[in-house]
Amino acid sequence: MYVCNCNGIRERQVRAAISAGATRPAQIFKACGSRAQCARCVCDMRQILDEEREALRYAAE
Ligand code: FES
Repeated sequence: MYVCNCNGIRERQVRAAISAGATRPAQIFKACGSRAQCARCVCDMRQILDEEREALRYAAE
């Protein structure tokens, strides 16, 4: 599933960028070799960041 249609960034790429240390949408764009254009995807990226943080928190407990 595409998260960012402007840059063709898929959800798995976003999750991989987060796993590699991205903590903000700008870092996700950078990890994917792109940059924000319309920025409509930023809310979805933030939601995935929250999901990944939650998963890490549960894993740490
Ligand atoms: S949908 Fe991601 S920059 Fe436009």
